Amino acid sequence: MSPAIATIADVAALLATGDALDRVVPSVLGIVADALGAHECSLWRSDETGLWRAYSLGASTASVDDVRRHLEGNSLVGEGIALARLTTGSRSLGAIVVGVSREVTTEEFVLLTTIGTMVAPALVHAEYSRQLETEVALRTRQIEQQRRFTERIIDSMPVGLYVIDREFRIQAWNRKRETGMQGVSREEAIGRTIFEILHRQPAELLREEFEDVFSTGRIAEFQMESSASGEHRTYRITKIPMRVDDTTVTHVITIGEDITEWREAQERFAQAEKLAAIGTLAAGVMHEINNPLATIAACGESLQIALKDMADAGIQPPKASDDYLSIIEQEVHRCKRIVNGLLEFSRPRAVGKELVDLNEVIEKTLFLLKHHASFKKMSIELDLDRQAPPTVEGNAEQLIQVFMALLLNATDAMQEQGRVKLRTRGAPKGSDWVMAEVTDEGHGIKRPDLQKIFEPFFTTKPPGRGTGLGLSICYGIVAEHGGRIEADSVAGQGATFRISLPRVTTS
Ligand SMILES: Nc1ncnc2c1ncn2[C@@H]1O[C@H](COP(=O)(O)OP(=O)(O)O)[C@@H](O)[C@H]1O
Ligand SMILES: [Mg+2]
Repeated sequence: MSPAIATIADVAALLATGDALDRVVPSVLGIVADALGAHECSLWRSDETGLWRAYSLGASTASVDDVRRHLEGNSLVGEGIALARLTTGSRSLGAIVVGVSREVTTEEFVLLTTIGTMVAPALVHAEYSRQLETEVALRTRQIEQQRRFTERIIDSMPVGLYVIDREFRIQAWNRKRETGMQGVSREEAIGRTIFEILHRQPAELLREEFEDVFSTGRIAEFQMESSASGEHRTYRITKIPMRVDDTTVTHVITIGEDITEWREAQERFAQAEKLAAIGTLAAGVMHEINNPLATIAACGESLQIALKDMADAGIQPPKASDDYLSIIEQEVHRCKRIVNGLLEFSRPRAVGKELVDLNEVIEKTLFLLKHHASFKKMSIELDLDRQAPPTVEGNAEQLIQVFMALLLNATDAMQEQGRVKLRTRGAPKGSDWVMAEVTDEGHGIKRPDLQKIFEPFFTTKPPGRGTGLGLSICYGIVAEHGGRIEADSVAGQGATFRISLPRVTTS
């Protein structure tokens, strides 16, 4: 093989490797320099910004002007310099320039030109790949931005959201679903089936719910109770069909919204309405009962006088009639107490109101209770707000009755021994409510009972011990003062009763 052919073969082999131009060109220049015994070999590039030396081997002697003059003229061989044009089609890409200290032979010039013809397409090819790479990088960046934007949208929503495909595999999983006790990270969730991730839920039920949305294409909505987060919470679950190609349902979007507070507010509202209705009813019934009660009491008294007259006249009254009459009197009395209690609940007597400090109310209540037998063994912890005394407009006597009822319930719940905490707080900045709390360490209240304790006659105490009127009277009095009473309790862990009353605006 002639040396020229060998050189061409070497260059062809190099170009065929498909290596990056930055690596190939210096090697090509090296081969050319060797073949021609050149002290310099450079690749010059030209584009709209001009002509410049892109690669160079050996100390360069040719200037830009030299190269340009040679390229523009037709003498590609000159004093100590030889050039090979790099062109494809009508485009001029530059030149390969060699520096030699002797005449270049025709054969050498042909070799140089051949190599130029070989290198030019490689240059163009590299240029295209680079453009393509830039384009791809740009598009990738745009797609990534778009993806992040969509992700941000679903992450910003205050609801848990995930999307599954027909194979029940998770395709989207938002931030809210990553947090909390049951949170699973996005990396962990994406690509796995929903049954693997929500393994606490019965898989068959879950599958049915999804199948239903896939087959009907209709939105499904239901409520779900869960204690998975440690406390009891209510969620509204919505399953929304999604169609990627606008024909069949391809995905299902599931949204879970914590509606515990909303539901509690609804329940409170319903409770308040119910109690108001009971109150109105009770007031009507009680008035009806009051009159016959008064009649019975009057008749009893008359009979007692008649019996006394008989005895004075020496006539022996019927056996045990005295006892019967005193039973009638006692029972009438009991009825009256219940009637009055109910009336107080339904319509607390409109009594005079004045400025009352809840701290003082509590202290007076404790003073009155001090001598109460069931209260003797209790220890009381006071945390009263002296900085901003909780002052309200109200009736001290009625408010004492409220705290008395709460404290007596606390003693009952703790079997007369244990600690009760009494706390008050003046209205914090920006709030119109003052607050008082009674917390005990008793047996607490079962969840279903929490709804009912303010109803008249609801009691869990044995007959003769509870009337079930205490809390309903408290409710009536607090409502009459424009406030609210709430109970908070976990069975077995004590109870807290919180009273909120509107603060007095002194200005
Ligand atoms: N501090 C408390 N701890 C536990 N349960 C309570 C407490 N206070 C009230 N309860 C529950 O609420 C019910 C109703 O209370 P209340 O209206 O005062 O009626 P009574 O005390 O006559 O039963 C009680 O029977 C009891 O089940
Ligand atoms: Mg009671």
